Amino acid sequence: MNGSATGAVALVQGIASLMANEKNITERADFLVCPAFLHLSPVRNMIEHQHYDILLGAQDCSVHDFGAYTGDIAPAMLADSGCQYVIVGHSERRENHEETDTLVCAKAKAAHESGLKAIICVGETLDQRESGQAFDVIGAQIKASVPEGASAQNTVIAYEPVWAIGSGKAATPEDIAAMHDFIREKMKEKLADYQDIRILYGGSVKPENASEIFKIKNVDGALIGGASLKAESFVGIAKAA
Ligand code: PGA
Repeated sequence: MNGSATGAVALVQGIASLMANEKNITERADFLVCPAFLHLSPVRNMIEHQHYDILLGAQDCSVHDFGAYTGDIAPAMLADSGCQYVIVGHSERRENHEETDTLVCAKAKAAHESGLKAIICVGETLDQRESGQAFDVIGAQIKASVPEGASAQNTVIAYEPVWAIGSGKAATPEDIAAMHDFIREKMKEKLADYQDIRILYGGSVKPENASEIFKIKNVDGALIGGASLKAESFVGIAKAA
């Protein structure tokens, strides 16, 4: 929930023009921006007008298709606004809106039904990590949040330890590696093409630590918060990717 429509357009424009200096960068990785709902259309218009190779996504969606759900945004509306992706179950949604795994699962399913790819977020709290429950918590979140019909084509998993989000303190490479290996194994129970599903790490990713994180086996990308609010730091991470 940052900035204005003009600011969002300027930010994505800034990102795109810095990336244009990096030869073939968009052929070597996929780049997705997920602005606030109200900023989707102006950002989309700018991206399309300039023919930038940047994908568009949203930060949440309703479980419903359409109807009397005042204040909600249907996945079909997001698709209609040019989105290909939607984030579901971000820890801030889980915490501030009491979103459960069941609801997150229903959102992911609704997103799939509207042709969107769901980025399903999971992550343990500091208490859960310190009390040795991190793997159990993530295992249970994966089990209950990933819907039937999920595949590497329509689903991305984002592992974001809650304590690492916005704290400036990313998880250690060892902890990231262990959790991403675990998530890949868990996905085996869910998907035939589990080897291909993208597993992103999120939580205080910045240009200074991105290369080290991207080198970790089973890390296929990053979900970036604070560092995506400045074109230079987003593109620093893009170059590391
Ligand atoms: P951060 O946020 O990169 O600022 O830690 C991540 C997120 O918002 O999911």
